[in-house]
Amino acid sequence: MTAQIIDGKAFAARLRSRIAAEVATLAGQGITPGLAVVLVGEDPASQVYVRSKGRMTREVGMASFEHRLSQQVSQQELLELIQKLNEDPAVHGILVQLPLPAHMDEAAVINAITPDKDVDGFHILNVGRLATGQRAMVPCTPLGCLMLLRDHLGSLAGRNAVVIGRSNIVGKPMAQLLLRDSATVTIAHSRTEDLPELCRRADILVAAVGRPSFVQGDWIKPGATVIDVGINRTEDGLVGDVDHAGASQVAGAFTPVPGGVGPMTIACLLANTLTATARIHGLPDPEGLTP
Ligand code: GUN
Repeated sequence: MTAQIIDGKAFAARLRSRIAAEVATLAGQGITPGLAVVLVGEDPASQVYVRSKGRMTREVGMASFEHRLSQQVSQQELLELIQKLNEDPAVHGILVQLPLPAHMDEAAVINAITPDKDVDGFHILNVGRLATGQRAMVPCTPLGCLMLLRDHLGSLAGRNAVVIGRSNIVGKPMAQLLLRDSATVTIAHSRTEDLPELCRRADILVAAVGRPSFVQGDWIKPGATVIDVGINRTEDGLVGDVDHAGASQVAGAFTPVPGGVGPMTIACLLANTLTATARIHGLPDPEGLTP
């Protein structure tokens, strides 16, 4: 059996077109969604992400505000910038690129963003709202994974889902979203015993560990849907957390790297910015962009 490839790149392009159409409708009401991205320091990978976020934001017709601060900036100065963005009516979404320099308290910075503009969904109030089934801003990468899973599988109810990785950015919110869709969810991590055996029971396997080609083909249940969140730079180029040669022999479907989850993350950032704009203006949530 050769697995079907879940084309995240094409799905994300369709999603951005829908978002662009909604942005055009809002323009007719005099509203331009605005996304502010804050980058502290000169980390090359972060600079690449921030540049492509700005370009895609403009491509869908939104306003993009970029703030680049030096590695040495004080936390107080960063908090003052966030306060200004919180109060700026042209800004509907605020993203502070992580990781922050070691002298900063990441939680204090994230929690300074007003929850309504927290398009990353990292603020403690949004984390709590997601966990308790209230209307939240949902982290972009897991939201993108959920959209791909629903599109491929339809209902997720009753399916066995294993999420490998327990980060606040991917693993934990992914598990919450799968649970909300009535999957039976297990979160696995570096201390999990007999991970291959656990994975073999998964109808849905989400790999978010950050280790190149970590998940082997013989860990995968025949016919399973495999979502590879990994983006690992190696001598062989970009590779995911799943051994794709192995997975393609066993899985029912899987997301490639590149061209799977990656493009969905930025598309969902734009989706969240549109949702935040609608909510700030007292309009209904745009169709199909929230879980
Ligand atoms: N760094 C790596 N991924 C992310 C993300 O999703 N959001 C932010 N703010 N920083 C990141």
